[in-house]
Amino acid sequence: MNSIRIAPSLLACDFARLAEEIADVERAGADWLHVDVMDGHFVPNLTIGPPVVAAIKKVANVPLDVHLMITDPWQYAEPFLDAGADVLTFHLEVADRGDVGALLKTVKGRGARVGIAINPDADVGALAPYLPGVDMVLVMSVFPGFGGQKFMPEVLANVRHLRDELGFEGDIEMDGGIDPDTIGACAGAGTDVFVAGTAVFGQKDRGARMGDLRRRAAAARGESTA
Ligand code: DX5
Ligand code: ZN
Repeated sequence: MNSIRIAPSLLACDFARLAEEIADVERAGADWLHVDVMDGHFVPNLTIGPPVVAAIKKVANVPLDVHLMITDPWQYAEPFLDAGADVLTFHLEVADRGDVGALLKTVKGRGARVGIAINPDADVGALAPYLPGVDMVLVMSVFPGFGGQKFMPEVLANVRHLRDELGFEGDIEMDGGIDPDTIGACAGAGTDVFVAGTAVFGQKDRGARMGDLRRRAAAARGESTA
């Protein structure tokens, strides 16, 4: 089984105090930092671009997990890799707009890990041809665009489909509405990487919250975290 990793989503942090917020969640045990990039086309929201990712990279000590919610990852993969993305994930929903194989190659060729994200209503089987070339599948547990939405339990079937029917052994990440009440079911279904925005940054004591999330994920996998 792949190790449990918790990736606080910076979308929920205080952007005016970005460096302090990053240091705080790193002290609290963040394994990765999840960075949400939105272009106002793929999703009805705009967030940050490569210059801000480069600024984050300067102060971060853990890998940057960059989630591209953008229509044209072919145009922007290189700028985000230059900015310091360690994991770069684009959406299956834009796969028909370009050469996916070439995009996977671009990211891998730069030494980064590559992921494909799927919306809650995706046809999971459509991932099959790409799986041999990807390190991670990001299974969205809300429709992308905004933090603070409610977890959709029906997406657990997408994780099971990947593990049981498609035999995917790489990382499966879940994103959207992950909190102490929902993380156990995600872990039990086969998820290893857990994005948590509101559930971490909404707490004063991020260390206690991340410890709780990690314990619940481990317990659901039958592991202890002594
Ligand atoms: C949603 C983003 C998420 C979001 C998660 O489109 O991809 O990463 O920040 O936020 P929470 O954990 O608050 O649902
Ligand atoms: Zn995200």
